[in-house]
Amino acid sequence: MKFDTPAGANPIDRMRVVGQPLDRIDGPRKVTGTATYAYEWHDVAERAAYGHVVGAGIAKGRLASIDISAAERAPGVIAVVTAANAGPLGKGKKNTASLLGGPQIEHYHQAIALVVAETFEQARAAAGLVRVAYVREPGRYSLTREIPHAVTPQESEIPPDSEVGDFEGAFAAAEVTLDATYTTPDQSHSMMEPMASLADWDGDRLTVWTSSQMIDWWRSELARTLGIHADKVRVVSPYIGGGFGAKLFLRADAVLAALGARAAKRPVKVALHRPLIPNNTTHRPATEQRIRIGASRDGTITAIGHESWSGDLPGGGPEPAVQQTRLLYAGEHRMSRLRLATLDLPEGNAMRAPGETPGMMALEMAMDEMADRLGMDPVEFRIRNDTQVDPEQPGCPFSQRQFVECLRQGAARFGWARRKPHGSVREGRWLVGMGMAAGFRNAPVMKSGARARLDGDGRVTIETDMTDIGTGSYTIIAQTAAETMGLPVEAIEVRLGDSDFPVSAGSGGQWGANSATAGVYAACMKLREVVATRLELDPSTAEFFDGRVHADGRSVPLGEAAGDGQIVVQDAIEFGDLDERKQISTFAAHFVEVAVDALTGETRVRRMLAVCAAGRILNPKQARSQVIGAMTMGVGAALCEELVVDDGRGFFVNHDLTSYEVPVHADIPEQDVVFLDEADADSSPMKAKGVGELGLCGVPAAIANAIHNATGIRVRDYPITLDKLI
Ligand code: MOS
Repeated sequence: MKFDTPAGANPIDRMRVVGQPLDRIDGPRKVTGTATYAYEWHDVAERAAYGHVVGAGIAKGRLASIDISAAERAPGVIAVVTAANAGPLGKGKKNTASLLGGPQIEHYHQAIALVVAETFEQARAAAGLVRVAYVREPGRYSLTREIPHAVTPQESEIPPDSEVGDFEGAFAAAEVTLDATYTTPDQSHSMMEPMASLADWDGDRLTVWTSSQMIDWWRSELARTLGIHADKVRVVSPYIGGGFGAKLFLRADAVLAALGARAAKRPVKVALHRPLIPNNTTHRPATEQRIRIGASRDGTITAIGHESWSGDLPGGGPEPAVQQTRLLYAGEHRMSRLRLATLDLPEGNAMRAPGETPGMMALEMAMDEMADRLGMDPVEFRIRNDTQVDPEQPGCPFSQRQFVECLRQGAARFGWARRKPHGSVREGRWLVGMGMAAGFRNAPVMKSGARARLDGDGRVTIETDMTDIGTGSYTIIAQTAAETMGLPVEAIEVRLGDSDFPVSAGSGGQWGANSATAGVYAACMKLREVVATRLELDPSTAEFFDGRVHADGRSVPLGEAAGDGQIVVQDAIEFGDLDERKQISTFAAHFVEVAVDALTGETRVRRMLAVCAAGRILNPKQARSQVIGAMTMGVGAALCEELVVDDGRGFFVNHDLTSYEVPVHADIPEQDVVFLDEADADSSPMKAKGVGELGLCGVPAAIANAIHNATGIRVRDYPITLDKLI
């Protein structure tokens, strides 16, 4: 099904099942331990050996020698895989560094060996017997030191430069100006389930049970890395314990499990142990961002400039932190730039809302500072500079933009009018303040396919390689199929995460919910047509409800169309160029109240509110869970999350969950989430967008702004730990 004009009325608009706050249909399987995660395929794993990964102990250089003889002789050891004995290896298009290093070492904890043994303990013990001698080479590990050498990136998700009008001239002439620099740290995804894979060869055919957000990307990248045809590779990943972008791209566990299984001639399972994850896998790169805003005294922005510096390994790309500044506020003269430094730290890549998360951390603090300089309320300042068209492409309107409504409703619900001047509210030892920020994230779409199968008993099975990374894909896909086919949700079976199923959008960039359900809608609309035709009913007038097909004065149970057999159809939603004529984005307003301990500088978040405008909400309960999870991640970004760089040796020091701090339940107060009633006909037949990343973008700045309101202290360096306040 091609989607290139705004969606008209369709079966989804009935909203009998879609739009209902259903519990997760996969919930009981998860809480009873019957949902099978990558490391838990015990039927295959009964024959499986265990692989333990050895990570490089230097950041840059080469192996002088690697002696595996003691490891090979250790009890239970079956094979030891290194670059020297693995045979030729390719590299995935989206991998910057090799997933099995040696003799060159490109970053700290790059995998250099896999020890395969009968038990996990034997593999781990033998891994400790691998003797490595390194030749260390000097590396570049400090973003601050490398910024003077930063260049315009060759590879970038968004154009590195954009300029409208005369930014420098307008900024110099502006009545009120701000010129400030903000820093955000390296961050680790810290998902609960580590990367894990079980690989099994059957002749030249490889099956990998793994934890992947993007099944088809993994399949092709695995094939490319191993030098085999993608048709020979099956990737299975039905349940995923979180990803946040860390599982978008092929990682070492899958490649090494495949190599280990080939060497051991039996299935091999590999989990990356937690201390390996921050340096072996990807992370969100640190940024330094300079923001300049010029405005007239009435608060109208006349000039807005945003420059961002980040670093990556040679061949990598920049953190696209200026993305939102090109779209969020009006302003005649504009400039934004991405600059990239070369660093020999582990590979940087996408983490939940890449670009906008750190970009909004800076921009929305700058907007708060600018409102102060103008003597304006920060909500009013944002309303004053709203735009209904892409400010850099005036011919391109937003498909739907209820940003002002988010701000107004949020302010009213939160009691924003009660906010007091900075540093003026004290309750015992606590300094109390309120802050707010905009939320913004684009709503991209991706081609997405699905297969729909109708049985004679009237049940429908949906198969697609879409993934559920904890987001609720199973449930919203079941709701979509139920609504389209006129069935109760219990009559739908959803099977996900298998490369034997049609290729979907996968889970990333908050495109998954809208794109994948639209693909299921396309398959179900095709199924309706086949069903009506089989029943000799007019497909153009047939209505599907209560498990029956109604047309031409007749009413027939759906299953009759399948008789004793099945009807199987497959289709995909393919998006035309609609998103080039309209800017499709999601908006929010975030409000936060904090209390800061006047003696210790400890910040406690007291209340949080998000008002979101994100198209049709397919399941308010799942969407709310996405947003409160994202808001929680925002608390982490504001107050505690930071990978600490050892800039002498080139690695992230705090590589476990005791020293890389994320919020716990006790850190999180009441979280209130409101969705505006929307349906965006330009986004897809589902009229939905996405909320999973919107819920994060802006939250850290709202907290930073609340801390400033509480204390009068402006901290431009995240995370805002207590040492920066005292
Ligand atoms: Mo998201 S960083 O695209 O999983």
